[in-house]
Amino acid sequence: MLIKRKRSWELPESAATPESAYLNRRQLMKGAAGGTILAASSLAASSLIANPLLAQEADPSAKLYPLKRNDAYKLDRPVTQERLATTYNNFYEYGTDKSIVSDARKLQIRPWMVKIDGMVEKEMEIGIDDLLVRMPLEERLYRHRCVETWSMAVPWSGFALKSLVEMAKPQSGAKYLQMQTFKDARMAPGQRDFLYPWPYTEGLTMAEANHDLAFIATGIYGKPMPKQNGAPLRLAVPWKYGFKSVKSIVRFTFTDKRPKSFWEGLQASEYGFWANVNPQVAHPRWSQATEKPLGSDERVPTLLYNGYAEQVADLYKDLKGERLFM
Ligand code: MTE
Repeated sequence: MLIKRKRSWELPESAATPESAYLNRRQLMKGAAGGTILAASSLAASSLIANPLLAQEADPSAKLYPLKRNDAYKLDRPVTQERLATTYNNFYEYGTDKSIVSDARKLQIRPWMVKIDGMVEKEMEIGIDDLLVRMPLEERLYRHRCVETWSMAVPWSGFALKSLVEMAKPQSGAKYLQMQTFKDARMAPGQRDFLYPWPYTEGLTMAEANHDLAFIATGIYGKPMPKQNGAPLRLAVPWKYGFKSVKSIVRFTFTDKRPKSFWEGLQASEYGFWANVNPQVAHPRWSQATEKPLGSDERVPTLLYNGYAEQVADLYKDLKGERLFM
């Protein structure tokens, strides 16, 4: 790639800012800001800083939550604290560090139209609230493993991606499902950086999209999705590195061509189409053998397919020549 400038994606934020330092910084900022506000005796405002989620405007879908948990999806580790999972984010549309909560408030989540197009019986556009009514909503506990080696375990609310596939009625020739984030630099200043191939795009094979584990998350911790986590709908494919889980989706396109993802477009030697988690296959610049759960001081071993091998390994048994783990 003929780019001379130092590329921010070449150094993961986890290497640049350890989570502990990041959290301490947040604590300090919280203390400082809280002090000023308390001096102005505004208790309500200080609780906004203590809980950034409260600072979000009301989501019209709030009445749908919490959803009934589907107990088929279990965790082997404690659920991550809500405060951590909702304040330590990757959302490059709002910046390349992890503290994007306040910038992400610019994201306008209504009206939110979702386009379903490409190789389908009939293309359609549907508003998020109509989509939510049509989908079988439930809560699931999932692990999430970022390629940068931090991880979390969270209760997502939403629906199985296969339900959307069924509604879309893809043609028999469709081989892949491409998903795209919105593109609007007025509400996502990061999209003014022309070095990135906006909009953020990801893709799955049809077999992956129809797998039970592939989930469209519309909420987290029994509430609508916070903007910083990818409101109003984002993908959750827990056996793959977190960058596959595209946020704030506006378009699902069924196609017979393998989609090129955002990260593949930036650095194909490091980020591929499959991106399945494998502790034995190092990233070209760091090991993937262990991970650091958010909020924990200890690293723990990373599991093949992030612990979902039993469910998903069969999807890949006939794909020997592919770079399945990057
Ligand atoms: N989707 C968009 N549109 N933009 C992004 O920058 N980052 C990805 C993924 N989806 C990203 C995205 C990465 S690298 C990760 S690890 C997860 O979102 C982070 O999700 P979280 O912030 O909810 O933990």
